[in-house]
Amino acid sequence: MIKYKRSLIALSVGAALTVSGWKYLDSDSSKPEFKKESVSEKIWKDDKAVMAKFIDELMAKMTLEEKIGQLNLLTSGWDKTGPTMSDDYQEQIKEGKVGAIFNAFTADYTRDLQKLAVEETRLGIPLLFGYDVIHGHRTIFPISLGEAASWDLDAIQDASRIAATEAAAEGIHWTFAPMVDIARDPRWGRVSEGSGEDVFLSTEIARARVNGFQGDDLGALDTVLACAKHYAAYGQAQAGRDYHTTNMSTRELWDTYLPPFEAAVEEGAASFMTSFNELNGVPATGSKYLLDDILKQRWGFEGFVVTDYTAINEMVPHGFAADLKHAGELAINAGVDMDMQGSVYSDNLLELVEEEKVRISQIDNAVRRILEMKYRLGLFEDPYRYSDTDRQEREIYKHAHMEAARDVARKSFVLLKNQNSILPLSEGQSVALIGPLADSKQDMIGSWSAAGDRWEKPVTLLEGLKARFGDSVDINYAKGASYEFDATDTAGFAEAIEAAKKSDVIVMAMGEKWNMTGEAASRVDLNFPGTQSALMKELKKLGKPMVLVLMSGRPMTITWADENVDAILHTWYAGTQGGHAIADVLYGDYNPSGKLPVTFPRHVGQVPIYYNMKNTGRPFDPNGEEQKYRSRYLNESNAPLYPFGYGLSYTEFSYSDLALNSQILNPGSSVTASINVTNNGEHAGEEVVQLYIQDKVGSVTRPVRELKGFQKIHLEQGERKTVEFTISAEDLAFHDIDMNLAAEAGEFNVFIGGSSEANNTGTFQLSENVQFRRANPND
Ligand code: NOJ
Repeated sequence: MIKYKRSLIALSVGAALTVSGWKYLDSDSSKPEFKKESVSEKIWKDDKAVMAKFIDELMAKMTLEEKIGQLNLLTSGWDKTGPTMSDDYQEQIKEGKVGAIFNAFTADYTRDLQKLAVEETRLGIPLLFGYDVIHGHRTIFPISLGEAASWDLDAIQDASRIAATEAAAEGIHWTFAPMVDIARDPRWGRVSEGSGEDVFLSTEIARARVNGFQGDDLGALDTVLACAKHYAAYGQAQAGRDYHTTNMSTRELWDTYLPPFEAAVEEGAASFMTSFNELNGVPATGSKYLLDDILKQRWGFEGFVVTDYTAINEMVPHGFAADLKHAGELAINAGVDMDMQGSVYSDNLLELVEEEKVRISQIDNAVRRILEMKYRLGLFEDPYRYSDTDRQEREIYKHAHMEAARDVARKSFVLLKNQNSILPLSEGQSVALIGPLADSKQDMIGSWSAAGDRWEKPVTLLEGLKARFGDSVDINYAKGASYEFDATDTAGFAEAIEAAKKSDVIVMAMGEKWNMTGEAASRVDLNFPGTQSALMKELKKLGKPMVLVLMSGRPMTITWADENVDAILHTWYAGTQGGHAIADVLYGDYNPSGKLPVTFPRHVGQVPIYYNMKNTGRPFDPNGEEQKYRSRYLNESNAPLYPFGYGLSYTEFSYSDLALNSQILNPGSSVTASINVTNNGEHAGEEVVQLYIQDKVGSVTRPVRELKGFQKIHLEQGERKTVEFTISAEDLAFHDIDMNLAAEAGEFNVFIGGSSEANNTGTFQLSENVQFRRANPND
């Protein structure tokens, strides 16, 4: 079985066929129509008629000004997540000019603000409270990219559920997550917020996170509305510079950047956030193609669309709107329902309606979408139901949440190198613990840590080791170096070298400072900032065993470390319980099982580098005769330092006997690929078994291989398991030369193994072309 996938069924011409969410209506074959099955009944379980009656009656009472108020989202003064702040948000709430507030939390504060809306406005329509609950609310889990490295969908879903439980107990109804942008440029700081470079993995994680946040009942008190962001193609910012332009073919958009968003719609994500970037000349926030044609019409999205922070206003500097009023007109007519922090709607929509540039029906549609979500949350029954101090007291930092955070952290770590099995460490060894990240609480929880406490709660590695050993192991700590970009002072080196001399093993906690990743945190290189590399080189001279505990929110260029230290454990930013989790892994209580969700380059000049690239007409063959006229660099190899899907374990897994039960795949049928995986090492452990497929020839060129399935299995020492994947035509689909979603007849290679470099292979033929979805005539 391919464990995590949804199923599609081929179109049958002339019939109306419902296909796992898709309904193809062949009423007029010259104009194919695409309609999504309604998620509102299937997933949100609405009684549509009752809800519609309530909202009709409410909207009949609303003035146009009150309706426009519902489309306005303002930040409170509690947190700063963008360039502007609102000083008068409370006044505006009382005047009925605000439908939603973000960056406000705690049961008391949300209750106070809710009171202003409920008691002081004419209709008392409750506010919706949103917040960036990304990888935990108070109890912080590893950063999203770290969670993705666990390849453990259940763990990721549970982490989102815990985040939702804590957030909902503090009055929050709506999280601005999951971030589902595919990201292939590690210079872009927001790589840390997503699930990495791969479509299949990111899509499955998008599903897990939406389900974790929303559960199966939007009205339950331990769930929050999800928001798929940033729609769309934000991850391909030119030169890795945040907010920069994106340009890509429609096929790349559909095959690579849209699938996680479509999956979020299928799972019932309640909202979508527009992205800051322009895409092929049109800012996403003014893109009728993205918002109306694809999201609302084609995918049948029934939730609401919010902008990113002042993104409507930003269409003016983009050069797409002449002024704010024009920007507002473009946004609402493109399909933006809610304006985040820009006040463009509240300042201009009335006039735009009077001038007949915006139809009232467009505003009504937006208002209805927002009111429906308030209804589903139960806010019209009890506007204060999420603002409950007792529940807050009970849920925040609960023991079970902390345990889960420690567990997910351990699962997220990736062992990149372990020469001579230097890890796990033995308790008899004294340890020099060195580096700016060894005892820095603020760094442990990374960026976008919501209401997470950065100063008291996080457990550092030094604290984790001390908690574990007390005085029974000698730990000689020295910060030694700085991670600040402009640091040059090497005065701390001497102390670090002294600590190392006294110790049997050197453990270096190094990488990036927490705020070097996330929003507005692009970098031109991927090296260790500050004096860290220089200190590592000094320590190397001592000839002692060296372990690097790497902390970062992006792939870094760590070629020197790879060549010179004995072991490297990537721990991302591991969260509130990070120090305990790292100690658990360093000492073998947990055998690392994470796999990279992103490729690690050797050099920043290789960027963008990702495993599922195209082959070129002159692929480089290091063993080939012709070397010059090949697709390669003169002064660096094409190969990554560590490939996608890579990660070691304290044990050894071997793969053998890849077999396919048939060499022919017929439409409507499947082929089963199986492989034996054996634990030949000395520890029990988990392995992520990965299936890749290559479509050898296509009507458009196809990637060298693509992830199409994975299973995380546990094997006791000496145990062997047979792992099976079922492959059907839907797994082979892509947007063909005519932009139909189709699988094309021909030969396919199968690769199964423990990384994207898996070299156990098989081959099968797809017997006929299979078309799943016709191109949209507008594409
Ligand atoms: C800007 C960020 O791009 C987005 O991810 C976030 O949700 C909003 N600010 C709100 O804080």
